[in-house]
This record gives sequence, structure tokens and C-alpha cells, in this order.
Amino acid sequence: MDKLLIEGGRPLEGSVRISGAKNAALPAMAAALLTCERVELDNIPRVRDIITMGRLLAYMTATVETPELPPTAMIIQAKTVNGAEAPYELVRTMRASILTLGPLVARNGSARVSLPGGCSIGARPVDLHLKALEQMGAEIGTSHGYVEARVPGGGRLPGGNVHFDKITVTGTENILMAAVLAKGETKIENAAREPEITDLAELLIKMGAEIEGAGTSTIRVQGKEKLHGARHTIIADRIEAGTFLVAGAITNGSLEIIGCVPEHLASVIAKLRETGVEIRETAPDTLVVRGAKKLGAADVITEEYPGFATDMQAQFMALVTQAQGTSVITERIFENRFLHASEMMRMGANISIEGRRAVVHGPTTLSGSGVIASDLRASASLVLAALVAQGETLIDRVYHIDRGYERIEEKLSSVGARIRRVS
Ligand code: EPZ
Repeated sequence: MDKLLIEGGRPLEGSVRISGAKNAALPAMAAALLTCERVELDNIPRVRDIITMGRLLAYMTATVETPELPPTAMIIQAKTVNGAEAPYELVRTMRASILTLGPLVARNGSARVSLPGGCSIGARPVDLHLKALEQMGAEIGTSHGYVEARVPGGGRLPGGNVHFDKITVTGTENILMAAVLAKGETKIENAAREPEITDLAELLIKMGAEIEGAGTSTIRVQGKEKLHGARHTIIADRIEAGTFLVAGAITNGSLEIIGCVPEHLASVIAKLRETGVEIRETAPDTLVVRGAKKLGAADVITEEYPGFATDMQAQFMALVTQAQGTSVITERIFENRFLHASEMMRMGANISIEGRRAVVHGPTTLSGSGVIASDLRASASLVLAALVAQGETLIDRVYHIDRGYERIEEKLSSVGARIRRVS
């Protein structure tokens, strides 16, 4: 099993280019199931979850081509999806497989997708996806670990008023994809407002869908009989960009982050500035981060977009282990997303966990040790902690990081980090 070996203590200097957003690319790939024509996507990050989604679509009879050039392109064509299902073997390795449910039932009139089950950051049910599909007129049954959705009497989903009890990102994406082929209008209330939702809506509109309000909490969709092929470039990964902003800050370095969307990072930038880190927008798609001589403590509460992203919580925790004073981090989105804290404590951090709050007392000198990655963003936070730790850190189970960060060791080495993959 691959591990990352990192020798800390070097300020990062130079430029890094941000890849396309995994969490925007996954729904875009699922959206290709909505048409028999070719959907050409660009800026697809080459990460493990994308490969898994490609395998799942191929299982459902879609052809998935990844041309050599440009290396970020992908062409998907799902000529038919008859009898398609998402099997447990693929779904269990990636929860985002549930994103195929909406498009499949919309195009095919029925779908069978394995229930994803929990994961290390929480129970993560899909009840809200299913309730919303029912509100659109689907009949839902679960048996043998699979969810079966069908349109009573066959044909297209009627559409309807969907109200999410709680904001859900992939839930909103699933329903948006189901709604674009419905017979009537669908109104989605309490919708997620993440940039990934807006990006998906832009692709669907290019495919012929009629959507209003994406990016707000009320989305209206007029269903169409058919969608067609389209070309679309995926937005930049705001979480990768945020992770590199913290990398520059935590190592007291100076990093240029190219190819990002500063607007999508507003809450992260505001929090970093609160700790004394300097961040400048030097071009519409470029940020420059410079570490602070003395980092100050700052409290964070994770929230849905445009609030501070739960996907940046672990990285921020690594940063404030180096800040003067006490920082309180409150995790509101997932119930068990502090697994990285105990690993950071093994490196010398002073953190106490009180339910959904982590209290971090800083600054502490971290020392390199053997640590275990528990999920994607936890792995990223351990890499960040290792970059500032004294001595060598060996991070085990880095397959988690490969799910969502493209060539992380290459990108970090190019700006001066001592990092290498060992098996
Ligand atoms: C998306 O997950 C992201 N994944 C996650 O990225 C991200 O952490 C999360 O949104 C929150 O921003 C993708 O986009 C592929 P939710 P998702 O449904 O959609 C509860 C990463 O590291 N809930 O918005 O699965 C749920 O348990 C990751 O890249 C229900 O109770 O998250 C959670 O507490 C991991 N029932 C909250 O809602 C449901 O049916 C928000 O989850 C659905 C969700």
C-alpha cells in the first residue's frame, strides 16, 4: 500500500496550477447518462474517484474515452442505458455513485442502484435523495441493499415540488438531473448553492435543459423530452486551491495559485486573513499567499456554501496548530469528521474534542511520526501538518488522497516540498 514520506520545515515557494474540481466532474459525468449523444468534458482531474465513475458508466453501457491530448479531456456517450444498474462493488468504493440514480430513472423510467452505506466521516444516508424523487412522482423501494426507483406506468417522471429538509449537495444534483427530463415543472426548494451545482446546471443547459435559479436556494426546471450532446469545461477545484493556500501559509512560504476561482474561496480567504496570512488576487484566476510571521488563532464553523466548507475543516485545523492562542473549530455538516485530530495529536498538536467542537491550543511544535489517513481531506491535513513538522512523517493509506488530489506529491515537490511516495 502506498505511503507518503514527507520531510518538514521548508517554506513552499513558486507556482501551482489547480486542477478541475472532482466534485463538479463527478455529477457532470453522471449527466452524460441523460442523452444518447456525446458529452465532451474538459478539465477533468485524473483522480481515483473519476476512474471509478468512468468504470461505473462503462458498466452501464456508456463508452468512456479519455483521449491522450489534452490529458484532461473525457468523452462519454451513453447510447442506451436499458436495464442499467449500479452494483455494490463499485458503489461501495465511492458514495458519489448515487449520482447515477437521478439520470437513470429520468432517462430509463427505472433504475437500480446499490445503497452506498456509511463512511468514516459519518452515516451519510441518502434518504433525502429518495424522498425528493418520490416528490417528483417516482416509486421507491429498497431490497437486498439496493434502491429501486421507477416511474409508475413507465415513461417520464411527472416532476413536482421538492423541498429538502436539509441542504444536500449530491441530493440537489441528483434531483436536478432527474428534473431535466421530467414531463412537467420541478421546483427544488432549500437547494444547495455550491459552485458545483451551478457548474452542473450550466452543462445541463448546454445539453438543452431549461433551468432557472441554480446557485440560489430555489431552482426551477422545465422538463424536456430529450437532451442532446454538449461540450463543457469543469470549474477549478476550490478545495484543492484552498489546500494549497494553507500549504503556503503553514510553511510561511509564498505561493502563487493559478487557475482558481477566487470568488469560490471567499470564506476560506477571509478566515486565512483573520489568522494574519496575506492573500492577494493578482489576476482574475490567480491568488498569491504569503505566510504570517506570527499566525493568530481563529474560530471556524463549517457551513453549506457560501459558508466555510467542511472539506477545508481538516486543513484549517492543521494551520491553527501553528497559531498563537486557542481556536475553536465547529463541524456542523458531518458528525464524525475529526479523525485527523488524533493523528495530529500524535505529531504533538494540542487538541481536545468536545462533541462537534475541536479546541486547538497553539502554537505547538509538530514532530514527524507515522500517521494514518482516514479520509480524503484528513489525508490532506496530515500532509500539511507534515510540511511544517520537524523531521520525517510517514502517512499511511494515501489511497484516500489519490481519490481527490491530482499528482499531489508532484505539485508539492515543484514548489520545494520534500515529499515522495513509497510503497
Ligand atoms: C458532497 O457530499 C461532497 N461530495 C462532499 O465532498 C462534501 O463534504 C459534502 O457535499 C458537503 O459539502 C461530492 O460532491 C461528491 P451532503 P454529499 O448530502 O452530497 C446529510 C470530499 O472530501 N444527508 O451535502 O454526500 C449528510 O449525512 C467530500 O470531496 C442526509 O442526512 O453531502 C450530511 O450530514 C466528502 N440525508 C449532510 O446531510 C441525505 O439523503 C450534508 O451532506 C443526504 C445527506
